[in-house]
Amino acid sequence: AETKKIAVIAGDGIGPEVVAEAEKIIRRTEEVFGYSFTTEHALFGGIAIDEKGTPLPEETLQVCKSADAVLLGAVGGPKWDNNSKELRPETGLLGIRKELGLFSNLRPAVVFDCLKDASTLKPEVLEGTDLMVVRELTGGIYFGEKFRREGAGGEEAVDTCAYSTAEVERIVHQAFEIAQKRRKKLASVDKANVLETSRLWRETVNRIAPQYPDVELEHVLVDNCAMQLLRRPSSFDVIVTENMFGDILSDEAAMLTGSIGMLSSASMGEGAFGLYEPVHGSAPDIAGQGLANPIATILSVALMYRLTFGYEDAADAIERAVAEVLDEGHRTADIAVDKSKALSTTEMGDLIAAAIR
Ligand code: NAD
Ligand code: IPM
Ligand code: MN
Repeated sequence: AETKKIAVIAGDGIGPEVVAEAEKIIRRTEEVFGYSFTTEHALFGGIAIDEKGTPLPEETLQVCKSADAVLLGAVGGPKWDNNSKELRPETGLLGIRKELGLFSNLRPAVVFDCLKDASTLKPEVLEGTDLMVVRELTGGIYFGEKFRREGAGGEEAVDTCAYSTAEVERIVHQAFEIAQKRRKKLASVDKANVLETSRLWRETVNRIAPQYPDVELEHVLVDNCAMQLLRRPSSFDVIVTENMFGDILSDEAAMLTGSIGMLSSASMGEGAFGLYEPVHGSAPDIAGQGLANPIATILSVALMYRLTFGYEDAADAIERAVAEVLDEGHRTADIAVDKSKALSTTEMGDLIAAAIR
């Protein structure tokens, strides 16, 4: 097969630790399936602030733009938390998503049967849970105008939330198309009882819905959705929502699977190009100790193979290997019942790589 180029941006905290395991998986799939990848590493986030004076160096953006896909770890940490907006790792993350046109963030939350005991929720509630959060990624309050001003009550801070019809349409079409390939159920989540952006969102969804008559649509208010996710998680198939609601609901959905260390994601635009990253952050509390669960990042590689490269065989093999290793009882600390028997990040990566065939 033709050689594909992957830009690798490890970032901060546990980012480099989990990305190293994902790269092991990439090398293993080359051996087993004969695929060929070049990887090019680039600086991003806090480490890029330290070394280049900016979280998203132009050079890094060019490496990403010249690649077929991007693998990303995580960025951020206490060292940069009091920096001005331009010198924050998170600003680089928003910048890379915007610059690469990645408006659609797919976050699958699948409950592995053998991990039902790892969740804080009751196993019988989790049974059969397999959902996908489709999060709008380049609009809303994250990208609206922000400023400070003097007001009657002292200094005021303003974040504006804006959505255009076109922005809503493109993400909603993607969500309907994804639902058509799954169990044909779509929950559109908004706060249309209060927010004008949510009313536009809901009108747009309702206008598009007749084009997908085979998909069963429900509108759910975001506060109710947060509750229903814990009450009846298995009844959800695809959830489509705006940027900030999707950020919050997907971390909540992570706990259905047992740990935020299990949740992978794909950030897509209109084409096959994608950026793949775990949903979790840089986890400064456990960084550098070999405690991080690499599965979220490893499963993100499976998403990359499926969505960017169409390498279904390798994607399936990665997902099967993860399931097999978990079935055998292997656990990192975050999903272990008996923490004294927990594996390190690299031990987990080695076992999954070896199980790929
Ligand atoms: P976090 O996701 O980094 O950590 C939350 C909790 O989950 C921590 O207790 C952490 O130890 C645990 N955790 C996270 N990933 C884990 C893994 N793979 N294995 C085991 N445990 C794991 O969220 P936070 O603490 O709110 O944020 C820390 C930093 O990360 C902040 O600077 C934040 O801005 C940044 N962040 C970055 C991204 C990203 O790069 N995409 C995402 C979220 C947060
Ligand atoms: C995520 C993160 C980011 C977000 C932060 C770090 C900017 O929480 O990828 O979920 O809110 O999108
Ligand atoms: Mn988040």
